[in-house]
Amino acid sequence: MDSVTRLGVVGCGLMGSGIAEVAARHGLDVRVAEATPEAAETGRRRVTGSLDRGVRRGKLSEEERDGALARLSFTHDLGDLADRQFVVEAVAENRDIKTEVVRSLDKVVEDPSAILATNTSSIPVVDLAVATGRPGQVIGMHFFNPVPVQRLVEVIPALTTSADTVRRTRDFAGRLGKQTVQAPDRAGFVVNALLIPYLLGAVRMVESGGARPEDIDQGMELGCAHPMGPLRLLDLIGLDTAQAIAESLYEEFKEPLYGPPALLRRMVAAGHLGRKSGRGFYAYDA
Ligand code: 3HC
Repeated sequence: MDSVTRLGVVGCGLMGSGIAEVAARHGLDVRVAEATPEAAETGRRRVTGSLDRGVRRGKLSEEERDGALARLSFTHDLGDLADRQFVVEAVAENRDIKTEVVRSLDKVVEDPSAILATNTSSIPVVDLAVATGRPGQVIGMHFFNPVPVQRLVEVIPALTTSADTVRRTRDFAGRLGKQTVQAPDRAGFVVNALLIPYLLGAVRMVESGGARPEDIDQGMELGCAHPMGPLRLLDLIGLDTAQAIAESLYEEFKEPLYGPPALLRRMVAAGHLGRKSGRGFYAYDA
């Protein structure tokens, strides 16, 4: 099956909602599964809010927004993804949860040629692939935040992934208007393996009292033309997500530079998760 028309997305947080939005805007029939009716409703509001914002900013017309919304449906029953040809899971960055979701999808999705992609940012794709009866059709598809803006998708074949699955996944990402790079199935893939130590270095600089967050961020924005400095970026990514990625990198490579600094852990423990909780290195409107 080459031309995907029916996409499933599991999880409608920051990443899942972005993936669902982009796919619906590119003409796909998208069904989003969340764990509870409340979470599904929150997900619907998130996607709708983002599409409305697109209209306000002149990015899409009202007709295009309405068309995208008509192609989106939300459910709290994974069984409703039975007829999907391609499913991207984007649930919390937790090995047990992701394994359970992928295992369930394998049972639920009826088309034996359907691809199950994981938007994990750090868990070995092969661990998820071997939890299914179709390890040749499980692949990593790592999107970047904000999904509607960032052009990249890292495509991560596990040792078990077939060449045909890689080709179909790259084609599919292209249909979403994304460019792909192929990345190795090791913690952090390409981008996070380089990005996370840089972000953690900025946290250590704050922790040691070496510089203020504003100065660090301005330094990288004005000195290196980054669109946002490392601490603002951590707030965007979510400090809990960044901590989870750092832990995976540390577990894999045992390099001290990947170890989450105490300040990051304490901020996560305090619920200072960044934009999504209203407070991280900076304060945000609720
Ligand atoms: N949805 C849709 N569009 C959005 C958006 C969103 N959530 N946020 C911003 N945009 C669009 C705006 O509409 C605007 O488009 P325009 O220029 O055509 O009008 C454009 O992006 C710029 O937005 P703003 O003017 O509001 O704000 P900024 O210029 O400050 O840009 C930013 C915001 C796009 C987030 C930019 O600062 C940026 O690219 N930052 C770096 C983000 C980054 O590095 N992401 C990767 C994180 S790593 C990751 O995701 C991996 C994971 O595993 C951790």
